[in-house]
Amino acid sequence: MIPVNEPLLDGNEKNYLLECIETGWISSEGPFIKQFEDKFAEKVGRSYAIAVSNGTAALDAAIEALGIGPGDEVIMPAFTIISCIGQIVRAGAIPVLVDSEPLTWNMDIKQIEGKITSRSKAILVVHIYGLPVDMNPVLEIARHYQLKVIEDAAEMHGQAYRGRPCGSFGDISTFSFYPNKHITTGEGGMIVTNDEQLAEDCRSLRNLCFQAKKRFVHERLGWNFRMTNLQAALGLAQLERLEEFVSRKRNMGRLYTELLADLSNVQLPLASTEYADNIYWVFGLVLADNSSLDVEQVMCMLGENGIGTRPFFCPMNQQPVLKRLGLFAEESYPEADRLYRQGFYIPSGLALKEEQIREVAKVLHKVLV
Ligand SMILES: Cc1ncc(COP(=O)(O)O)c(C=O)c1O
Repeated sequence: MIPVNEPLLDGNEKNYLLECIETGWISSEGPFIKQFEDKFAEKVGRSYAIAVSNGTAALDAAIEALGIGPGDEVIMPAFTIISCIGQIVRAGAIPVLVDSEPLTWNMDIKQIEGKITSRSKAILVVHIYGLPVDMNPVLEIARHYQLKVIEDAAEMHGQAYRGRPCGSFGDISTFSFYPNKHITTGEGGMIVTNDEQLAEDCRSLRNLCFQAKKRFVHERLGWNFRMTNLQAALGLAQLERLEEFVSRKRNMGRLYTELLADLSNVQLPLASTEYADNIYWVFGLVLADNSSLDVEQVMCMLGENGIGTRPFFCPMNQQPVLKRLGLFAEESYPEADRLYRQGFYIPSGLALKEEQIREVAKVLHKVLV
């Protein structure tokens, strides 16, 4: 079986983990946390980085820190992971969706301005699958309407928009370190910002809002979103190889693109836009509208041939849990629906070898004749 993802852990991971065990620093109090935060902040060009337990937690804390609450509207893509919307809904705020752009699969920024009302509070930008959102126009809109920008860069380690690192654009930006990301801590996430107050709030929110003096007296409800020293040890070792990992992924993307270019019945990821080259968080394929096979059939046939796959995200407008809340009734997001209906991704992990890429391409040619 060629798995859909396999991480690479053959750098300093073992040494640093051993150090945790030998020194006994295994909780969130250990020294690797600060080292990882400092190095990460430097990489992304931000003043503050706050390590947390996963990318969803990073988004939850970021949204709470920005004070998004009842009745506030947050403009966000329909096509994204459920992590983006959880805290918005729990806080009593209103998610306002925009559809996807058909080639990059990112939110269609031309639709943002039309969604702004007097209740709009923030734009949640999510860079999807390897190409960044066109940030300059988004930042311009945010400035003009005085909206906050939350940037979900979970899939964008090492990516840049017009030469500036992804994760450096939001009032607050977030990352995930799940094992299918360009760098992993097993489970983990990071919040980055240049705003000292937001950083302090996020640090407090990740740590149950314990207080310095009266530790067990709470003025605000937080979470235990702390990252452990063990996770940070992994993260530090992974961060040392970020450039190498991005280059491996780009090589993977180039080879898949070359080998699959002759398939007429699928849409491949865009190799680049005017402002960035794809880093292929995952290598996605979207079946043509007139494909004789549907996504489930194709994924099933690939599985029978030993190729792991995953479907694309199910858009927010189709989520039963959100529909039951009465959200997005009568609204239509045809591009996000198309991506979900016709999209899936093939093995894209860092440990993928050239012969495995060639095997995946060979099987795809057999299946998608
Ligand atoms: C865009 C995006 N945001 C948030 C997350 C959530 O991260 P985590 O799985 O670490 O909670 C993911 C995870 O894949 C993601 O792709």
